[in-house]
Amino acid sequence: MRSTFIAACRLLALVAVARGLLTTTVAMAQDANPSIWTGVYSKPQAERGRVRFLNDCATCHNFDLQGQGTRGPALTGAPFMTNWEAQDLKSLFAKIQRMPLNNPASLPDAVYMDIMTYILQVNAFPEGERDLSAEALEGIHIVRRDAAKLVANFAVVEMVGCLAQRPDSRWVLTSVAEPIVSRDQPLTSDELKKAAAKPLGTDQFLLVSVLPFKPGAYQGQKVSAKGLFYKAPNESRLNVTSLQPVAASCAN
Ligand code: HEC
Repeated sequence: MRSTFIAACRLLALVAVARGLLTTTVAMAQDANPSIWTGVYSKPQAERGRVRFLNDCATCHNFDLQGQGTRGPALTGAPFMTNWEAQDLKSLFAKIQRMPLNNPASLPDAVYMDIMTYILQVNAFPEGERDLSAEALEGIHIVRRDAAKLVANFAVVEMVGCLAQRPDSRWVLTSVAEPIVSRDQPLTSDELKKAAAKPLGTDQFLLVSVLPFKPGAYQGQKVSAKGLFYKAPNESRLNVTSLQPVAASCAN
């Protein structure tokens, strides 16, 4: 029991160090399905924004948002992402409200909002059903579609899969869909429900330091495992910091 405790403490120390090194990666990739990719504005809203953009902004940023030399920078593609990645729409909106540069805050907020959705549309963020409103801005981050998939080695991740023991008696998690960057706390009851509903996939992870979590009790079950992620060419590993069953059987 005591040695288990010491092993757990050492692992947590390792987690703390790794997290320190990786805070930026982790912060940017926290959300499995970033809300900006679920469609946060409507097509008519972006269309209204396009008209106003051409009228009020294109003289400096160009009709195609590619920028006009020193008059105004590009508002699309790599230059846009370099400046705005990981920031929320509230910050971008605040910036837009300070435009046009030669006449700041001269337009109604509703018009600025429409223009922002047009900028999102040109940057290939998808349309949704409803207009974007001011209340929603804070929680919506500007992230790449694949941000959640770019999990760095030694990031703390959560994964859901089927717990199995190999012939060599080591434990593996099979049918894993996609590890997501996480915190190292055990799952709350809400999160456990979500984990139970998560679809399975095809990846397999070798579970390291899993014995303290008594994997024998959950063999063949659908479980959520958290820990330090390490992807190597021949074998991907998870250095386990928590293991919780989420469903008695493991089928999609
Ligand atoms: C008179 C020229 C001019 C007009 C008109 C103008 N802008 Fe700008 N804009 C600039 C310049 C110059 C910058 C770069 C300096 C800065 O960030 O303040 C800029 C910066 C920006 C940025 C930040 C770009 C980045 O990547 O950091 C955004 C967003 C923006 N403008 C949006 C707009 C919108 C929306 C309008 C129309 C409502 C508009 N601008 C009208 C000149 C202009």
